[in-house]
Amino acid sequence: MTHAAVIGAQWGDEGKGKIVDLLSEFADVVVRFQGGGNAGHTIIYNNEKVVLNHIPSGVLHEGKICILGQGMVIDPFDVAREIEALRSRDLLKAKEIRVSDRAHVIMPHHKDVDSLREDMSGGLGIGTTRRGVGPAYEDKYGRRGVRVGDLYKPRTLRRLLEVNIAHWRPFFLEQQIEPPDVFELLQRMEEAAEGLKGLVTDTSMLLHRCMREKKHVLLEGAQGCMLDIDHGTYPFVTSSSTVAGGACTGAGIGPREVHTVLGITKAYTTRVGGGPFPTEAAGDSADVLRRKGVEFGATTGRPRRCGWLDIPLLRRAIRLSGIDSLVVTKMDVLSGIKDIPVCIGYLKDGVVLDEPPLDDLELTEPVYERLEGWDDPLKGMKSFDALPASAQAYIRKLEELAGCKVSMISTGPSREETIVLSNPFHPGA
Ligand code: GDP
Ligand code: IMO
Ligand code: MG
Repeated sequence: MTHAAVIGAQWGDEGKGKIVDLLSEFADVVVRFQGGGNAGHTIIYNNEKVVLNHIPSGVLHEGKICILGQGMVIDPFDVAREIEALRSRDLLKAKEIRVSDRAHVIMPHHKDVDSLREDMSGGLGIGTTRRGVGPAYEDKYGRRGVRVGDLYKPRTLRRLLEVNIAHWRPFFLEQQIEPPDVFELLQRMEEAAEGLKGLVTDTSMLLHRCMREKKHVLLEGAQGCMLDIDHGTYPFVTSSSTVAGGACTGAGIGPREVHTVLGITKAYTTRVGGGPFPTEAAGDSADVLRRKGVEFGATTGRPRRCGWLDIPLLRRAIRLSGIDSLVVTKMDVLSGIKDIPVCIGYLKDGVVLDEPPLDDLELTEPVYERLEGWDDPLKGMKSFDALPASAQAYIRKLEELAGCKVSMISTGPSREETIVLSNPFHPGA
């Protein structure tokens, strides 16, 4: 029995959805433990594209238990819509979907606040997904939030909504916008309760029961280490703990229950929204990566910023999340690029640093090494030995520089387009 956490090792969109879907075959329970509808996890299933925002990526497998843990913030209407959309496409294969009674609720005004702030920033803001995730976490930590379980306690709910709206009223008035009406919001939240009925439970208890029954658990991260609220490129981050430690608080398990941590990284780097991106490529190079990698946001459709693999950044993610092995995705996208720049260090005051000093990036300069490229298309390749020598060398160099084993390589968006180098649940074996 091995419980594994799957973590984004960059700025999100590394291909976590594909990998969690693939590994779900070997799990009984799949848990999302942080974030909300800001996530966009894409799975290609029988040539059909499925984008999941809240629902764990194990949902396409028969017999699984999918848990939305209490570290998440949940838009109840979007969750109900997501489930219905899966059902109508006959893709709801999991045995059960369970929503934590302690997860916080994203309310309609959270989305309004998120969007208004972005509009007010004149394009210089965080560039959020406008899904209300930040304001919902603010309310959680401000101790004025509404939890999913509260939706079923009418008197408590009314009181909580009054307190919550009293907090946001001045913000709306300042924007000369009518603040939310408590009575109307109460009605909306009662509808939300109806939509989630039968799914809500103490998911931490459920998870413990599953672990006692020796079920295998997969913990699915959203976003990536560099978007972590504590460890990322603050303030250009999301509002939750995206590193592996977040899996413990967000799912309600102890640290010893996480037996192995898989870090997902693209063979290059992308980022959506504002904030520093030292290895960002310019002009044609960025366009090539964006076009070949179809780098457009799964949630917002925004073009992703594209650049080169940043090994020091990866080292930081490996350290922060205790990553045991890496999964390198989108290797196929690099085919046809002659010499592939890879950042191997950061030059600061004449010294090359192993990790990027995230808070002094403007004082540094990425140091690049150019690795030999390859022309052969890698799409769909399933064997390491069949890769061109320079693609093999790219992976070996990455392992050496990052100081971490690569257990899998992804060569296309579908499940079968994957190379397995070692058992990702036991990378040391
Ligand atoms: P996530 O948020 O980490 O789950 O990643 P996204 O789904 O937002 O973005 C990853 C995109 O890359 C999706 O469109 C996937 O279908 C696609 N993808 C995943 N792995 C590969 C791969 O190895 N090669 C190619 N070409 N596309 C991939
Ligand atoms: P997945 O799980 C990439 C980014 C936003 C913005 C910042 C804050 O698909 O990898 P937020 O809406 O969270 O307040 O936005 O974080 N962001 C993501 N970027 N992938 C994601 O999720 C992201 N979720 C949030 O673009 O810069
Ligand atoms: Mg995504």
